Amino acid sequence: MKSQFLRLLFIAALATGTFVGAAGAADEPASAEKSEPTAAEPKAEGAPEAAAPAEAGAPMKPIDRVNATPKGQLKNPFDYKDPKIVEQGYKAYMGLSCNGCHGGGGGGGMCPPLTNETWVYGGDDDTLFRLIVLGSQDLQKAGYSRKGQEGVVGPMPAYKDIVEEEERIWKAIAWIRSVWKGRAEKITW
Ligand code: HEC
Repeated sequence: MKSQFLRLLFIAALATGTFVGAAGAADEPASAEKSEPTAAEPKAEGAPEAAAPAEAGAPMKPIDRVNATPKGQLKNPFDYKDPKIVEQGYKAYMGLSCNGCHGGGGGGGMCPPLTNETWVYGGDDDTLFRLIVLGSQDLQKAGYSRKGQEGVVGPMPAYKDIVEEEERIWKAIAWIRSVWKGRAEKITW
């Protein structure tokens, strides 16, 4: 009983942004300046890295990406089968304190597991990106509704004011794909 109450307190602290905000800010303070220019800079010809970021298009803030893209059409530009992307995604997931609610392995605990076949709003890239950026409340306002029921019901906090670089969210989603344990025929991404 008591521990259940403490859990709820913890969720509330995270949901208000106090906890997540602090962790998000402390993590990689200068990453926006550091990573994006290198990615976009047209390096000397023949630099092999130059091709990959181009596929992702010009980087946008997560909320701008959400607003600029018609419903249902967001797609992860990163390959979740690439171990390097997955590793970066795990760093993003931990750095953004997602593990505080969903567990270090994504198996849930206080909040829904990310590894099972049940998706609250849908498991496709578009829905997950919007859920993380907007949070449960604004996602529902945007016309997405609950389809599945997980053991834990509560709001997912919005990350739109916490993450500046969309690639951190996309990579976190790529990591989620890598730890997912459902059947192949359930894959919609
Ligand atoms: C304060 C706790 C909390 C934090 C921090 C949090 N989440 Fe969530 N998350 C939730 C809750 C609660 C839900 C269920 C939302 C609902 O039912 O509306 C959820 C739902 C999800 C889902 C959908 C799960 C499903 O089964 O459909 C994904 C994916 C997800 N979160 C990813 C993330 C990622 C990635 C991060 C970090 C960037 C994160 N979450 C941070 C609480 C949290």
